[in-house]
Amino acid sequence: MNEQLSRKTIARIDAPPRRVPQPADPCAMVIFGGTGDLTHRLLMPALYNLASTRLLPEKFALIGLGTGDRTTESWQADLRAGLERANKDSSIDEAAWHSLASRMRYVRGDLNDPELYKRIGQALERADAEHQTEGNAIFYLAVADRFFATIVDRLGEAGLVREEPNANGQRPWRRVVIEKPFGNSVDSAHKLNDHILKTLKESQIFRIDHYLGKETVQNILALRFGNTLFEPIWNRDRIDHVQITAAEVVGVEKRGKFYEQTGALRDMMPNHVLSLLSLVAMEPPARFDAQTIRNKKTEVLSAIRAVDPNSVVRAQYGAGTVRGERCIPYRQEPDVARDSNTETYVAMRLEVDNWRWAGVPFYLRTGKHLADRRTEIAIRFKKTPAAPFEELEGENPRPNWLVLRIQPDEGISLQFEIKRPGPAMELAAVKMDFHYQDWFPPEPNVGYETLLYDVMIGDPMLFMRADTIEQAWRIVQPALDQWAHDHDSLPTYPSGSEGPVEADALISRSGRHWRQVVASPEEQR
Ligand code: BG6
Repeated sequence: MNEQLSRKTIARIDAPPRRVPQPADPCAMVIFGGTGDLTHRLLMPALYNLASTRLLPEKFALIGLGTGDRTTESWQADLRAGLERANKDSSIDEAAWHSLASRMRYVRGDLNDPELYKRIGQALERADAEHQTEGNAIFYLAVADRFFATIVDRLGEAGLVREEPNANGQRPWRRVVIEKPFGNSVDSAHKLNDHILKTLKESQIFRIDHYLGKETVQNILALRFGNTLFEPIWNRDRIDHVQITAAEVVGVEKRGKFYEQTGALRDMMPNHVLSLLSLVAMEPPARFDAQTIRNKKTEVLSAIRAVDPNSVVRAQYGAGTVRGERCIPYRQEPDVARDSNTETYVAMRLEVDNWRWAGVPFYLRTGKHLADRRTEIAIRFKKTPAAPFEELEGENPRPNWLVLRIQPDEGISLQFEIKRPGPAMELAAVKMDFHYQDWFPPEPNVGYETLLYDVMIGDPMLFMRADTIEQAWRIVQPALDQWAHDHDSLPTYPSGSEGPVEADALISRSGRHWRQVVASPEEQR
């Protein structure tokens, strides 16, 4: 039996044909940072994927803003090159590309200059006339966070985010998508919310956390609330602890300047990792709508005690080898201070103060240049209460693990004990493993398709609300406060390793241990 077949230990029972969603509403999308990295690597490939799956509205226009002296044609050529890089294994659907390319316009200007906003207004009128975008517009802020407030102010002053009935009696919508980081502390997130809410209604703001666009992240809700099996055991009676890992093999790449201001905690915890936590820990929603789901997520975050700085470990990568490649220490990366104290790894223990989770620690960790790429949520169940097997050697029986693999190799596995065949009563741990790719053919996806589509149809479920992001910052703030006064040199970990020994010490205080970042047969025993 080939490996692919032998892995299919789970049969798909029911797979009705997929409902084909409708193309999104007519609109123009204006990208601030139209010539930047995010636009080339992710936004353009996502728009193209939406176009080739017929989810992009036919009445669509794309306006790219930049400071460089270029033409619409040269902008298109750059985006096309980015698209080819993103699709290097498949050919470009020329019809989809041409339809998209014919709707693009490049507008040059300085983000601070009110004149730019006049030109944006004119470009939107023209888009409306040429492509019937019905006055609907998305302003996508793919720029450094220091520009967010100014752009929103200028959009407001220019009247570009007003949602008023037009001459045809329609009420066009105006939405603003804000990239991360949304603030860098609880205060700054609160101030930024206050500031932009003077110009925009909350319903117009879409704060992106790209993790929430990942299929397997959304699948957490399907697993928990689409089955009766898990919910009765999803609590302090049955669960010993939860580990959430976002391990990366990449280093800071060319983002030294950004990362020096940010560090691993700000970059990953209040958004991505706490989003995962909120989906795992939230109470069951009565309805699957944006308001209910966002209420439940915020409610559980508000039940999390602000972290105790003594339960946080930070560290920085040193030299080492990642997947056979030699890596330089963080402090030698471009645009990084030679005595930098910015962390590239962080681990912490959190407690959720509610009836479901009291006493169940949540261990979170994220880091760059680790031994492997692995984002997962691992739920460890309690040991068996009685000990009929206590005569057996070793830690028998081993507790069950339920692991939700977010990336790569998206799937779910359940580890349990069975009897090893033979005359003796011996236990062995086995795994039932579900791999998405065995059942659902991968679709071209860079992770932003669902999120862009949702902005176009006005569904905010996967976006962070003002109170949610502030709760997330509140949880991590004590660690940031302590680090602001702590100038001791950080511990280091070798690039390509499992992380710093200090993180092992953090979890072993309670007699537990981390799952391996690198998969090994013995890994989760
Ligand atoms: C980004 C961070 O938000 O998420 C990066 O700024 C990080 O530093 C990235 O590498 C991880 O996302 P993904 O989807 O590659 O796991």
